[in-house]
Amino acid sequence: MHRREFLVASLAALASSTALAQMKMDDMSNMDSMPGMDMSGHAGHDMGAMEKGAVALPEGEALRDLPLLANEASTPGLFKAKLTAEPAVARFAENLDTPILAYNGTSPGPLIEAHEGDRIEIAFANRMEGEQSTIHWHGMPVPADQDGNPMDPVAAGADRIYAFDLPEGSAGSYWYHPHPHGKTAEQVYRGLAGAFVVKAKADPIPAEYGDTVLMFTDLRLAADGSMPENTMTDLMNGRVGDHILVNGQKNPKLSVGMGAKRRFRLYNATNARFLKLAFDGAPMTIIGSDGGLLEAPVEAKEILLSPAERLELVVSFDKSGPITLYTLDYDRGWMGPGRPADAGLTLLTVDVSDDPAEPVPPLPERLRPIAPLGKPTVSRRLEFTETMTMNATDMQMGFQINGKSFDMGRVDIVAKAGQTELWEVVNKADMDHPFHVHGTQFQVIEHERDGKVSKPPYLAWKDTVNVARGETVRLLLRQERPGPRMYHCHILEHEQLGMMGILDVQA
Ligand code: C2O
Ligand code: CU
Ligand code: CU
Repeated sequence: MHRREFLVASLAALASSTALAQMKMDDMSNMDSMPGMDMSGHAGHDMGAMEKGAVALPEGEALRDLPLLANEASTPGLFKAKLTAEPAVARFAENLDTPILAYNGTSPGPLIEAHEGDRIEIAFANRMEGEQSTIHWHGMPVPADQDGNPMDPVAAGADRIYAFDLPEGSAGSYWYHPHPHGKTAEQVYRGLAGAFVVKAKADPIPAEYGDTVLMFTDLRLAADGSMPENTMTDLMNGRVGDHILVNGQKNPKLSVGMGAKRRFRLYNATNARFLKLAFDGAPMTIIGSDGGLLEAPVEAKEILLSPAERLELVVSFDKSGPITLYTLDYDRGWMGPGRPADAGLTLLTVDVSDDPAEPVPPLPERLRPIAPLGKPTVSRRLEFTETMTMNATDMQMGFQINGKSFDMGRVDIVAKAGQTELWEVVNKADMDHPFHVHGTQFQVIEHERDGKVSKPPYLAWKDTVNVARGETVRLLLRQERPGPRMYHCHILEHEQLGMMGILDVQA
């Protein structure tokens, strides 16, 4: 399908009502017969039927470690490496080649591991024909001009260096992905995303627990092995695939001894999957969020990881047998037919043997202090809405913040570096929208829904928070570094269709 800009049709003024959206959604099952409707090459398919034809992928292979990005520097405190974005071929299903986009030939991209206090210098080579790109360091405290904003594209065939220092206290589970104007969603679902773990100088979590990144991505394959382009359903809801992969594998297997404890960093690197997760038969303890460790461990029966969120867990494997990490049902608001079956998918199987593991030290009771951000001097309100516009030949969803679609030439908010702000993020739309801000970590202070206010169960540093439909989330935020920053919904198709703004931080 050709990529269209958000259409501002004459119906725009009428189009923000739920009633209209509903009317259109009811039409969607007959959409093939509607004149001029662009079905993105899927004409003749019922949208709900897409999953039935899913290509089977092998399961149960040993969980691969993500390849580590090698540090080319020999000077202590310097991390120097190269990341090349280029077309590659992956083999997800037997005998099927899948053209993908990859960093250094792999998807997910290589795992970057550095330490607090390190200087980072990464040379980026864009070797994708005809496509500009950037590398955005999601969640990381990097200068605005090093953060891969859509305003700073790297042209096809061009190179640039991203350089920044990792401050003390910045240990956490970050990631990197492209952020070019209008192409982020596609470059990410085609394979460009990787984990960036910043390690603490003194880590309170026992080393015996290991430290394993589990990066979840979402894959849809056509029968010929190719990745189909986004459909209208994908644009509305965000792209959901047929398979959730862990480090590029479907339901891989991990073997541990009885009594083992493992540290996992869970990454939701999908465009639009909401992952409500639990281990069947193994207790989970949350130890960290997007921006590093919590103050103290928190036990959890299940967790919700919305697109772009991360959590650090310690899982105790105290009974033998296969233990699965599986999905539970979560209704994030789905428009039109074809809501994917989200529950009951097995993402990972842990084989716990009868042989006891080496005894390991217990998890400490305190992990690190988190200073509350304190009293805000400014407060702002951001309101999410969805719109539908149509004309004789086309229909388009739009996703807006405070009634506006993203405009690269417009600054939406001006803030002062070092000042604490209260942001009230109000979701007036029919879908959940995971809200993300670049360049800093924030603290969620409360959620409000139907007049009921609730506090989050723990204080945490976050860069992405789900704002459920009908919900208001209040958070405290402080930007330390000047320059333009993006804030947006991390359903990447929504970001592409306008749900993004620019925050200009002044020194
Ligand atoms: Cu993952 Cu604009 O970010
Ligand atoms: Cu980001
Ligand atoms: Cu959204």
